[in-house]
Amino acid sequence: MPEIKPTIDNMEILCAETVAGPNALVVFGASGDLTHRKLLVSIFQLFARDLLDDRFYLLGCGRKKFSDEEFRKKAEQSIRENSDFLSSKDLDAFISKLYYIDGDYNDANFYRRIKTRLVELEQKHKVYKSLVFYLSVPPFLYTTIVEHLGSSELACPKKLATKQQIKLVVEKPFGRDLRSAVELNNSISRCFDEPQIYRIDHYLGKETVQNILMLRFANTIFEPIWNRNYIDNVQITIAETQGVEHRAGYYDTSGALRDIFQNHMLQMLALVAMESPISFEADHIRDEKVKLLRSIRAFDINKLDDFFVRGQYGPGSINGKKVKGYLEESGARANSKTETFVAAKLFIDNWRWQGVPFYLRTGKRLPAKDTEIAITFKKVPYSMFSSVGIDELPPNVLVLQIQPEEGISLSFQAKRPGSKICMSTLNMNFSYKSVFLVDMPEAYQRLLLDCMVGDQTLFTRQDDVEVSWQLLTPILQAWEQDESAPHKYAAGSESFAEADRLIEADDRKWRKILESGISQ
Ligand code: BG6
Repeated sequence: MPEIKPTIDNMEILCAETVAGPNALVVFGASGDLTHRKLLVSIFQLFARDLLDDRFYLLGCGRKKFSDEEFRKKAEQSIRENSDFLSSKDLDAFISKLYYIDGDYNDANFYRRIKTRLVELEQKHKVYKSLVFYLSVPPFLYTTIVEHLGSSELACPKKLATKQQIKLVVEKPFGRDLRSAVELNNSISRCFDEPQIYRIDHYLGKETVQNILMLRFANTIFEPIWNRNYIDNVQITIAETQGVEHRAGYYDTSGALRDIFQNHMLQMLALVAMESPISFEADHIRDEKVKLLRSIRAFDINKLDDFFVRGQYGPGSINGKKVKGYLEESGARANSKTETFVAAKLFIDNWRWQGVPFYLRTGKRLPAKDTEIAITFKKVPYSMFSSVGIDELPPNVLVLQIQPEEGISLSFQAKRPGSKICMSTLNMNFSYKSVFLVDMPEAYQRLLLDCMVGDQTLFTRQDDVEVSWQLLTPILQAWEQDESAPHKYAAGSESFAEADRLIEADDRKWRKILESGISQ
């Protein structure tokens, strides 16, 4: 199979990375899962790559009681478990920059103690009023913490000049419908201005998601054909093999539409379909994304089943291993109607995309981990090969493979050597790993560094979040009122009849879910 292997030296037009200025990171939820699985290891890697200022330090805040020493031990263990590449010298130096304070998020005194501790640490590390507050806590605590940050004046210092140096990072989910997202935005904006707010969607930190912008706007060959004249349809898939793991308590009140579709899925759609921004500036890109999301056609709730289908996994098997159904997961309510799979058909009302369907699907407990964007071009208008029996020629498909094997592939027809008439479909593959010979950095590294540097490009803006909830809230409401349960699919299966019908009604098919899409 042909593979493009450009040499990096000839290709590297520009590699730029900005080093963070002096910053302190204050993490709420410092004893939690996200901090230990993702954040600490990502910050450590930034440190080891010399991308943090020498004065950097981290203050962890949490409900669990730990001394600085105990927190450091736990952090070291998490970094060792989650990092392949380690230098003990770097690790020791990094660990000595970690501190911890415990308390109750509802207690004003906790924030006074944090303030006192920060004054001490500021003096020790010589970092003044450059703080990043990271909310790595369950969403119901967001408003409480933000209000206390305001009333304790940790985050709303009187002088406006210093205010810009103080940032807030908020994890998803950002609201659970339009009303709650607007309320959350309102409560945060009492204390933080939009340039201080960094709403995380970790998909935007993935290298291959960022590459959508480079592919589209740093090449001329794609733009002329990136429209309804040449593109037949676009399919975006986020398939996971894992179930809800230990998160059923959260997931049962969320479901796939809120958990993945509203954020990761719509963000990828926006990047693939938006118009060209006038520059690589954060707001120019974000303006175009929001404009695109606003152009998605509203759904006719009376015909919802033609556009949105939901499913829930039952018992089944994945990679030969038996797994439970969603209703048997501990934390899921008996008879829960929470969807673990969503398939949708969207249309974008603008000149570029009029009439081109976008098929989106995401599901847990599918047969493989596979995140991809597949752009299927129109078929040739006429087959000159019909006289030799080839009436139907398969269309060209450009696949942006996001996970697990990052890459790009383009399929086209070519003559096989040998017989006079012998044609087959070839895939021209570009695999990040084999070209750049590195593992992809964790998305949180990118996002944490960008936040410290003050670059909001990869973070979602208030209007972006609200417009996506505005689109989806009527669907959530319709599903809540609908007494029927989601369609069942056996864990490990690719799809089910109703999801297939959604696309087959248009004479098309879902792409196969494959672990290593680009090498197929
Ligand atoms: C999270 C969702 O945002 O993304 C999870 O809450 C999901 O349910 C995860 O498993 C998928 O992320 P990734 O990076 O593994 O594709």
